[in-house]
Amino acid sequence: RAHAPVVVAIDGPSGSGKSTVSRAVAARLGLSFLDTGAMYRAMTWWMLTNGIDIDDADAVSIACAKPVIVSGTDADGPTITVDGVDVSGPIRGPEVTAQVSAVSAVPAVRARLVELQRGCAEVAPRGIVAEGRDMGTVVFPAATAKVFLTASPEARAGRRAAELRAKGVDEATIAAMAADLTRRDAADSSRATAPLVRAEDAVLVDTSELTLPQVIDAVVELVAERAGHL
Ligand code: DC
Repeated sequence: RAHAPVVVAIDGPSGSGKSTVSRAVAARLGLSFLDTGAMYRAMTWWMLTNGIDIDDADAVSIACAKPVIVSGTDADGPTITVDGVDVSGPIRGPEVTAQVSAVSAVPAVRARLVELQRGCAEVAPRGIVAEGRDMGTVVFPAATAKVFLTASPEARAGRRAAELRAKGVDEATIAAMAADLTRRDAADSSRATAPLVRAEDAVLVDTSELTLPQVIDAVVELVAERAGHL
């Protein structure tokens, strides 16, 4: 008999290892993969590119209906386009990163992107691993498995710094980005609409003392247990 599509909801703050873990779990289980943070970043990129005043929530609310945002959900090579333009590079830049929390706090933006996110899950052939801040609480409340990844602030800052150092980023910029990360996590966790919180039924995984393969194994095991057939 055909199984119901699997939805794995993975939430957590930046630097918890969420993206890497989610993508690896999707690849291991043959599921689609959705990075919802990339969608908020794509929306922010479009706002900046089109001169929308990010601090004007009314302007952002009206404008957010316009861009056509398409997420490619292949775990081996996820893509994101806005009005047909590949924005996977620019959405990771400092301009977008500095403004994305403000854009993602606007309810109309969230309503629009949540609809797109649910649409991606509906068309995923075998199911989807979706990662973000409100996957388990708002977008997929009936998910097959819910995971909340955390790590100590030290571990998160350390990982982010190592990533940046590997890219040749200088220490002053690394320190500035660490401060920005703290500010963004505080904003994402305290906003009125869909703040970053653990769903009551999400399994908490503290990754501070775990290796990446250990975290991936733990999540794969949890999903297999919950889905019963993978
Ligand atoms: O995961 P990330 O750093 O790429 O996410 C970028 C921003 O988008 C983050 O500051 C919070 C926001 N976000 C959100 O509000 N809801 C989601 N489901 C995913 C991301």
